[in-house]
Amino acid sequence: YGDASQKIDYVFKVVLIGDSAVGKSQILSRFARNEFSLDSKATIGVEFQTRTLVIEHKSVKAQIWDTAGQERYRAVTSAYYRGAVGAMLVYDITKRQTFDHIPRWLEELRAHADKNIVIILIGNKSDLEDNRAVPTEDAKEFAQKEGLFFLETSALEATNVEEAFLTVLTEIF
Ligand code: GTP
Ligand code: MG
Repeated sequence: YGDASQKIDYVFKVVLIGDSAVGKSQILSRFARNEFSLDSKATIGVEFQTRTLVIEHKSVKAQIWDTAGQERYRAVTSAYYRGAVGAMLVYDITKRQTFDHIPRWLEELRAHADKNIVIILIGNKSDLEDNRAVPTEDAKEFAQKEGLFFLETSALEATNVEEAFLTVLTEIF
């Protein structure tokens, strides 16, 4: 999980956005520390964690920013997006509403972020297949229409979390 002694060739800022409780903080925790908590508290304001990895023989420090999905806990939007080269737009596959809100998050992202930002749509909690409320095909179709990458992840089972970050970081590269 990253060797702090190596020299850093690039620092890439990536932001996480999406409704409250979709699992943004746990996706980050899984990626940065390989940890997961079932009693995760709602994020207040902004937090970030970093992890250094090697991509195409360069050491890349991924600086991942995480904010509150809840409006009342959100920090100043423009500062959050400033300098971001990647974005992860997260919904919960068991909560249709969190997917229905994705166009709004995308709108906010496009209003504040750099126009070349690399975006991935993420359907999290794929371990809860029995409670699925968003068909994979719907999300895939939406992502294709909007020119986004797309993956379903499980922070709990550590499924596709690494892949999701690598997709964004490699594309930025
Ligand atoms: P805000 O900070 O309020 O915006 O929420 P968040 O998107 O950061 O959600 P958080 O990561 O705190 O997770 C919310 C709840 O979902 C917690 O109880 C997590 O344990 C749970 N959770 C997160 N990811 C998964 C997952 O992949 N599978 C399952 N089953 N639960 C998950
Ligand atoms: Mg959070």
